[in-house]
Amino acid sequence: MSTRQRQYRIAVLISGNGSNLQALIDAQARGDLGPTTIDLVVSNASKAYGLQRAADAGIPSLIQTMKPYKEAGKTRLDFDKDLAAEIQTHFRTSSGPDLIVLAGFMHILSQDFLSQFPKKVINLHPALPGAFDGIKAIERAFEAFQAGQITETGVMVHEVIPEVDRGRVILVEKVPIHKEDTVEDLASRIHSVEHGLLVRATRVFLTGQM
Ligand code: GRF
Repeated sequence: MSTRQRQYRIAVLISGNGSNLQALIDAQARGDLGPTTIDLVVSNASKAYGLQRAADAGIPSLIQTMKPYKEAGKTRLDFDKDLAAEIQTHFRTSSGPDLIVLAGFMHILSQDFLSQFPKKVINLHPALPGAFDGIKAIERAFEAFQAGQITETGVMVHEVIPEVDRGRVILVEKVPIHKEDTVEDLASRIHSVEHGLLVRATRVFLTGQM
């Protein structure tokens, strides 16, 4: 009797450089994501370098920007509704993707979107839980360190809920800040932690394997 291993199919949503997408692509190639395939990359920015990374890896991608919505007087909810439909269509199964990974995706998804993918959307955020929600978390942590308010920062991956950068934490890793650091030093230390943490969190979320 043959037992077929469960396969997972994921979508990765990006807005920019896509170094975290690259970490997932490389992990998939090494077998570090478990039985998981990155099936779709979505960008809300047409010039995102991550789109090139997807193309180089042979992964289909989809670009959906806010601009035409704004021009047509449409709302973010319209954007979210169409985005959810595009993703569902791409996966063409009744249950859709097994997971949607937000890897530097600079668009706040509404409950309307999230309710179509219950417990299936996770986000990477470059700060410790509850510390620096929202944009420019690295810069704000650096300033707080200089003001003597914190001694370390971190990276987390969490389930997505409508409140920005909140939701059950899947994995978290602390990142030290050194007094000789520039903000660029801190950013590059954080990014290298992100690349490992996002791979582990994706794997553990899907397969339960650390
Ligand atoms: C990461 O620092 C992520 O935590 C933040 O945006 C950045 C995206 O980097 N939200 P990249 O596009 O994956 O290189």
